[in-house]
Amino acid sequence: MKQSNRKIYERSYICTTMETTKKNIDFRKKAFITEQNMILTFDDVLCKPGYTGFSPAECDISTNLGPFHFNSPICTAAMDTVTESEMAIAMALYGGLGVIHRNCSYKKQLEMVKRVKRARNFIIEDVATVSPKTTIGEVQLLMKQKGISGFPVVDGDRKVLGIITQRDIPFNDDIEGTVDSIMTKNPICLHPHITREEGLAKLYEIRKEKIPLVDSNGILAGLITKKDLKPYYPYTSKDSKGRLVCALGCSPFLPKNSQDLAYLKEAAHLVDIMMTDVAEFYKKADLEGAMEMMKELDSTFVLGNIGTYKAAEAILTYGYPEDKLIGLKVGMGSGSICTTAIQTGVGAPTFFAAAEVADAIKDYNPKIGLVADGGFKYPGDLTKAFAVGADMVMSGHFFAGCTESPGVLDNIQGRKVKVYRGMGSAEARAVGSYADDRYIKESKKLAEGVSGYIPFVGPLKGVLDQLEDGLKNGLIYGGAKSIADAYKIEIGRVTPAGAVEARPHDLIR
Ligand code: XMP
Repeated sequence: MKQSNRKIYERSYICTTMETTKKNIDFRKKAFITEQNMILTFDDVLCKPGYTGFSPAECDISTNLGPFHFNSPICTAAMDTVTESEMAIAMALYGGLGVIHRNCSYKKQLEMVKRVKRARNFIIEDVATVSPKTTIGEVQLLMKQKGISGFPVVDGDRKVLGIITQRDIPFNDDIEGTVDSIMTKNPICLHPHITREEGLAKLYEIRKEKIPLVDSNGILAGLITKKDLKPYYPYTSKDSKGRLVCALGCSPFLPKNSQDLAYLKEAAHLVDIMMTDVAEFYKKADLEGAMEMMKELDSTFVLGNIGTYKAAEAILTYGYPEDKLIGLKVGMGSGSICTTAIQTGVGAPTFFAAAEVADAIKDYNPKIGLVADGGFKYPGDLTKAFAVGADMVMSGHFFAGCTESPGVLDNIQGRKVKVYRGMGSAEARAVGSYADDRYIKESKKLAEGVSGYIPFVGPLKGVLDQLEDGLKNGLIYGGAKSIADAYKIEIGRVTPAGAVEARPHDLIR
């Protein structure tokens, strides 16, 4: 496994140094907005090298968003060719966050959320058992039928008396004897509230495959097995119950249909963060709708997308409940599949938007997190986003070609590809009207995105490693030890000649 210095955190409520660090920085000035009224994007700037007095092993890329701690500051976009449950599970296992898309029914969203929340359920609650007088022949049959290699042995009150596993079955085919003659009596049991780490440690200590969980009266409450506990992902994003952290893309409006509302309420209760997924949130209706959402739904919220100081100011002074609003999502028209900027002439590239909104957050509520969404073409763009105030970055482009993204592998002239499409593309809208309010509702016919192919890049882990390594090296070259420190990295504008020079050049191809 790749060496990393990242510490292992559970969901925590630690207040980091980020707030204090941000306080001293004028992000808009840094991004050339204040004095020159520039709308710059990643390719227009470079981070300046800074002094580094620490080793790469000390570089920490973990971050916070509201009460959630992530060992990786990366999220996958709420897009139907990027994040469904498989991607959300993988992202959480590697320490980041998957945001499940909303181009589907509320029922399907709920199913996807449930799949993520169940994914690392290491405690079997519905345990199959046998009694002391079950015959060995019956146990063998049960093992075969259920594909289970061992059972707790319980009495009529489900009190644990022993455990019987494949290894206890005699070789002499004596199928007439009963379980109590061969079971391990008084087996080691654990209490039902153990963590995955405690379970793994105990299984290793006693060199067993299974341990029953019992309450204070010795009554069976669950079972853990080595098979369910492995493999172990040390950086996993976990909620307070040890389940994977997951976010859900949502409309800023509650559904009108009562059945859909019931599905949404259940999903919101399960999921950790709801992220409004609209092209531009700075609208009266969206601001009001989000208030209703927060009243009805039991979840934290990240609102967006927005692109300016004023939009952030409007949200931060709107009176949303403090415990519900945890972040703002920024960037408009900068995504690789977006056509909003050319279709409408309005846009807020992610670099510009992050600097604008970071200043408002600093001025109004430094506890609010900032998610920089879209427009990332290279790992180095992540460093630039953190330098202008982001706490997390979101991308679809980097992840649509992964094994874990939805969609099938296709082949173009011998190259493996997958489809990547904007949520405002004609193709995505053809699925149904689920995300119509992502754009101006009344102009449903104006596509604000495109659909295309993207190279297949294999498992998510490889892509994340590359992004995280680029980010870490960027922090080190910039002289920042952590994401919180990245706000100090200085930025300069590059000329078109400089932008050409920053890429491979003058090679014979
Ligand atoms: P990347 O650069 O990773 O950007 O492809 C992903 C982000 O783009 C947004 N998005 C869209 N924006 N039209 C748009 O103008 C669209 O059809 C569209 N689909 C997605 C979204 O914020 C996503 O995270």
